[in-house]
Amino acid sequence: MSTDREAVIWTRLGGKPNRMGRLYVTDKECRFSYDENYLQLDLPGLGIVYAPEFYGNTTISRERKKPFDLFPPIQSLIPPRQTDNFQRNLALKYLQTKKNKQFSSSDTTNFNTDWEILKISGHGGIGHLDVFENDSSAENWYANPPQHELMEISDELGFSLKQFMTWFEEDIEVFIQTVGPTPSVGGAIPKLLLSIPESGWDGRIGLPTREKTPGIIDIVLKFEQTTRYPGIIELEMLALEMHREAGFDVPRYWPCFFKGMPALAIERFDRDQNNTPLCSETLYSILASGIPLNNHYDYRYDLIARAIDVSPVELVSDTVDAKHHLFKRLIMALLTGNGDLHLENLSISCNKNIKSFSRIYDPTPMRAYAQHDMLSVMPFGEYGETPEGSEEAISLKQAVIRFAKNCGLNKTQRKDIINDCLEKTSEFSLRVGELKTVPDENKERLITKTEFVRKKLQE
Ligand SMILES: Nc1ncnc2c1ncn2[C@@H]1O[C@H](COP(=O)(O)OP(=O)(O)OP(=O)(O)O)[C@@H](O)[C@H]1O
Ligand SMILES: [Mg+2]
Repeated sequence: MSTDREAVIWTRLGGKPNRMGRLYVTDKECRFSYDENYLQLDLPGLGIVYAPEFYGNTTISRERKKPFDLFPPIQSLIPPRQTDNFQRNLALKYLQTKKNKQFSSSDTTNFNTDWEILKISGHGGIGHLDVFENDSSAENWYANPPQHELMEISDELGFSLKQFMTWFEEDIEVFIQTVGPTPSVGGAIPKLLLSIPESGWDGRIGLPTREKTPGIIDIVLKFEQTTRYPGIIELEMLALEMHREAGFDVPRYWPCFFKGMPALAIERFDRDQNNTPLCSETLYSILASGIPLNNHYDYRYDLIARAIDVSPVELVSDTVDAKHHLFKRLIMALLTGNGDLHLENLSISCNKNIKSFSRIYDPTPMRAYAQHDMLSVMPFGEYGETPEGSEEAISLKQAVIRFAKNCGLNKTQRKDIINDCLEKTSEFSLRVGELKTVPDENKERLITKTEFVRKKLQE
């Protein structure tokens, strides 16, 4: 027995809040209808696939089917059901401490809980969609943004995040009392959405902005779980720097300490200089809106290149440029030991009607860690596969050549990109060696693995 559920979707796209439409969830389907008024505004909608231009005022319906109870762009506002997920636990704790709220914590991994989480942390997060229980909560939320205030991260915040990370419950409570419900942000690494001075990190933080806030920018703050991933902040910074040097558009970032814990503050690419949301959607959300996918690496890079060309829905504005970007990103990932370039680590941003791959995020050299030491989380160029009628498996070099072809590159273009990436990463090993917080064992693993790839690509 279940009851249909209902929520409203609003957005601050374009600078001021508008209701986009209504969401219904039955036991079998999720359904969404755009508001007539919203359609008149000619703004982006729920997502690249579920765009107003394709659906207009026809209700969009989607069967509820694992792993999606909701439209993928909305599902991505809910932190995953893993019991050790920081964002989810934060939201659960908030639900449990909220007064006058009957919330049973006996089963926290069901859709009922997802729905409760969505209602409290489904607004103000990454991207442009704000989900609310009803219009009056939405109107109230937009009409009463707290006066923006920068606070020193001092002991006055009254909680120790370090302890918080190890799940000392009492600290979570204080944290929640201090910052309230936190907007959701995906991924596995503990992180918070915050704001800081536009000039950069200076030890003061504020809550994420909800309106134009001159002199303030929004950031993602990623924490280092030193036991699980020692030195990951330094590694992520090095990878961001290598990507910048290789010509990619990389957001500003600042290494910092948050209550004694190493952290990395990264400027958000889904907000403009007026703190207005820009639409951005992960490739996972986009692709899963159109085809069945079981998880965020259930695909092939070659198929992304193909989708860029043949998808009936325009994924990017400049398809040639996007395929070159994709090829170069994979080469850089191979050369910097990031085997984790999955569909949630690639996003499409849309700015003034131009759709393109977003700025770089999460290029972390995860091969440094034994539990993530793999060349690539998704297949490319049929690497390691044995084509029919052949005796031999496809080598790394051959796979790169095949993938380049699928990205529309000719031989010269392919060689130019590879040589450029090789040159721009020529000091990678040296720089890994100089990192201070990464244990030798992890440095050695990363250097060995990436040097092997370099050799193969140079052949
Ligand atoms: N600078 C940014 N601006 C806007 N959105 C961002 C930014 N960085 C990350 N995000 C969003 O937050 C999500 C999680 O961030 P990120 O990938 O850095 O963390 P993660 O926890 O390391 O992920 P993973 O699970 O891949 O290891 C991303 O998928 C992206 O949607
Ligand atoms: Mg990620």
